[in-house]
Amino acid sequence: MKPSRKFPLTRLRRNRQSANLRDLVAENALSSDDLIQPIFIKEGLKGKESIEPLPGVSRLGLDVLNEEIRELESAGIKAIALFPVIDSSKKDDKGSESLNEDNLVSQAIKQIKEMSEMVIISDVALDPYTSHGHDGLINADGYVDNDLTLPVLTEQALVLAKAGADIIAPSDMMDGRVKSIRDAFEAKGYVNTLILSYAAKYSSKFYGPFREAVGSSANLGVGSKDTYQMDVSNVKEALQEVAMDIEEGADIVMVKPGMPYLDIVKAVKDEFSIPTFAYQVSGEYAMLKGAIEKGWLSEEAFMESLLCFKRAGADCILTYAAKEIALELNK
Ligand code: PBG
Repeated sequence: MKPSRKFPLTRLRRNRQSANLRDLVAENALSSDDLIQPIFIKEGLKGKESIEPLPGVSRLGLDVLNEEIRELESAGIKAIALFPVIDSSKKDDKGSESLNEDNLVSQAIKQIKEMSEMVIISDVALDPYTSHGHDGLINADGYVDNDLTLPVLTEQALVLAKAGADIIAPSDMMDGRVKSIRDAFEAKGYVNTLILSYAAKYSSKFYGPFREAVGSSANLGVGSKDTYQMDVSNVKEALQEVAMDIEEGADIVMVKPGMPYLDIVKAVKDEFSIPTFAYQVSGEYAMLKGAIEKGWLSEEAFMESLLCFKRAGADCILTYAAKEIALELNK
């Protein structure tokens, strides 16, 4: 039976009197175990290079990658997501460089594996590698062709698994790619490589700074990803996407973007018992960081935004602020 909560027997403010009391009754908490740091690595770069629309985030050369991993470890971060910025001369309409076993990402994975236990998540999608900036292959009609793309994504996933990625993360939104990759992993002996599926990934305007960071925005031009990424207006379709990816063999599912899509995180978490991650994407980071840098928001707004992901049901959050927030949490 629900107690009747009548004033003044019930004063909800009693529980809020002090910080210690508030902590005792808190329903959710954020810890550095919940944070994943995305990292941009750039081919041929020595040192770091700042990214204008992502203040405080840099592209890293492989020469400074180990140092960054050590810093993340000491901040308490346990996983990273790698994103390559390859030489533009290596981009073509088929994204061929994604299948090169010695490409930038493979090198980075091997390098990190030699020095750290850090969990490595690696994206599966062709956009960092294609001259047109799309995640898949384009057919004669100019359409991003699902079934033509599947074997390439599967091959890309195998390259990443072979290099030593712990988790591969298809972010391309082709239908059937999780099954295709899972089957290939079973057949080739990568039975313990996880698949983190970007299951509910929306065709969002919040990815702008990321596309700038990996250099795919110029290639994509005015083209959109509307024919494969999800329509912003849909909720039930997200549940269908997630259900299919679980059935196809995903170990973890992801919702993306994050903050404007917390209703989707909650819907997925309520419906399925599978680890559910959310991606606080580049545009969300830029909004928050931009306003904080201007002094229009206090720095604590960032922490608040991440706690809200936990409240919605996210088990883990990919955020460009992971290191900085982890340092703050573990102070
Ligand atoms: C690649 C990919 C994108 C992001 C993650 N993987 C961009 C896109 O789909 O265009 C976006 C991440 C971000 O905005 O922070 N498919």
